[in-house]
Amino acid sequence: MCGIVGYTGQHEASPILVSGLRRLEYRGYDSAGLAGVDDGRIEIRKRAGRVRSLEELLDERPMRARCGISHTRWATHGPATDRNAHPHLGGRGGRMTVALVHNGVIENYAALRKELESEGFQFQSQTDTEVIAHLVARELETVDEPFLAVRRALPRLEGTYGLGVVCAGHPDVVVGARFGSPLVVGVGDDEHLLASDAVAIAPHTARVAYLQDGEVVRLTPLDFQIQHLEKGPITPRIDRIDWKPDAVELGGHAHYMLKEIREQPETVTDACRGRLVRSEATAHFGGLNLTARQLRRVRRIVFAACGTSWHAALVGEYLIERLADLPVEVEYASEFRYRNAPLDDRTLVFVLSQSGETADTLGALREARRRGHPTLAIVNTVGSTIAREADGGIYLHAGPEVGVASTKAFSAQVAVLTMLALHLARLRHLSFADGTAILEAIQSVPDLIGEVLRTEPRIDEAAALMTEARNALYLGRDIHFPVALEGALKLKEISYLHAEGYPTAEMKHGPIALVDRETPCVFVAPKGSLHAKTLSNVEEVKARHGVIVSVGTAGDEALAALSDVFLPIPEAPEVIQPLLAVVPLQLLAYHVARRRGCDIDKPRNLAKSVTVE
Ligand code: F6R
Repeated sequence: MCGIVGYTGQHEASPILVSGLRRLEYRGYDSAGLAGVDDGRIEIRKRAGRVRSLEELLDERPMRARCGISHTRWATHGPATDRNAHPHLGGRGGRMTVALVHNGVIENYAALRKELESEGFQFQSQTDTEVIAHLVARELETVDEPFLAVRRALPRLEGTYGLGVVCAGHPDVVVGARFGSPLVVGVGDDEHLLASDAVAIAPHTARVAYLQDGEVVRLTPLDFQIQHLEKGPITPRIDRIDWKPDAVELGGHAHYMLKEIREQPETVTDACRGRLVRSEATAHFGGLNLTARQLRRVRRIVFAACGTSWHAALVGEYLIERLADLPVEVEYASEFRYRNAPLDDRTLVFVLSQSGETADTLGALREARRRGHPTLAIVNTVGSTIAREADGGIYLHAGPEVGVASTKAFSAQVAVLTMLALHLARLRHLSFADGTAILEAIQSVPDLIGEVLRTEPRIDEAAALMTEARNALYLGRDIHFPVALEGALKLKEISYLHAEGYPTAEMKHGPIALVDRETPCVFVAPKGSLHAKTLSNVEEVKARHGVIVSVGTAGDEALAALSDVFLPIPEAPEVIQPLLAVVPLQLLAYHVARRRGCDIDKPRNLAKSVTVE
């Protein structure tokens, strides 16, 4: 989605702004631009297309300003053209006094545009954003102070925004404002930065202050002040970024997705660090903010999430029901927020999100809280909106995930949910011995994922079989059904092949009609309680000449004999098998997409975090 970077300090702004935009490229965008204040005047450069085109424009027409704002836009109102690219200018009578970048959606922009046009403001774009630039310019005519002008303009807006603003005649001031779209201030030495994601500014400073909804910030090289629109001045809390800036470098890998798949042994280690307690055969979480007594009272759990996080939650459902004997429901956050879902005081609500900014998941969290229901979050991004608004929760500690197709966040989520299931089970009936067995299984996961990663050449063979297919079925039973769903989603989003995930036995109730020599069926079938039944289902596909790719336990001769390509994972207890079985499916999707020549880190129509409904 759209990205914002702002800078004010001792250095030339444009190289800092452009390198910040580059670090946000992975989020998806279709135009880029920047504006600065040079010699008291606003200078602007913007272009449809990649950040590279913007750099070419800057080579032709350099910008010397030491203070500026920049943006990558993902088109919503109006197509991806030079004119619709941000920044937008505000002013009238040929005197443009404001340049502004915006993430979010202004719902009442049509009425505001009519009002401003009637007062002589001329519009250059089809965006909703341009009204904000003119509103600020109108206020600036009377107050001539950027911070005040922004503050006075904001109450007219209905919708969501993260804003960056610079004004003519104010060569070192950047103003930011947030309502529903994230913004963070970077605190440097004699310089300050503004960004929609800390990833953009991490090379410059590890000291950050996250803005809350309703807050406006004024940055100069030497200081920054935050005010809440209603509550007045705020004392900022300075946090430290807990990952290294090179966490978002490719580091020799062909794509971020591949890098993040290969990082998963460390991802699971980091997610488990300090949480497994051998002496009690359990896992502990510092941030849940619930006592053992409160957790024992819980009679039902609801998970709300989207996409890959929803699939992870579904694995959590199988694990918690199996280990802790607690009923679990998994809701699409977009549905949950608008349904009359009954919640009683013995139901525990969790939302799951890698980014912590997904609009639907945030909506679900707010809806649960509005009904007076305490809500917990399982989140990766520290300081994100969901992390801050939840009543408690668990961080994934997976580091920044750059690949648009989520991989390591899924593994971290499943690892956390496995530990949560153990924790809840040990508060109830699970014995010390059984708890210890599960704890040891979890501890073995990083090494076992390492073994799976070494089978990549075999996975590429399976990819070769699937490259020309048009449809694929992904099938799994029990705890492997969500893994099948996740495998199908990975293939769809980066290779554009149609793929569906189903519970294996459901196949004969319809999808088997699709099976022919051209339709690969990917079975997720490690050895476990339902293995014999799964083998019968594989036979059914074989009888119809379907192409069979299977993920199974190493040494499973029966499954291997039925398969065109057999992808082995090490023998392991069922509760940790999802963490192993998902890895070949991630690599399979990656290699199919690579063979089909798809742009893996920039899949079409997708953005990294979906901050609009
Ligand atoms: C798929 C993918 C998406 C996200 C979904 C939720 O690879 O990345 O389906 O999982 O948009 O995002 P978060 O977890 O950030 O809330």
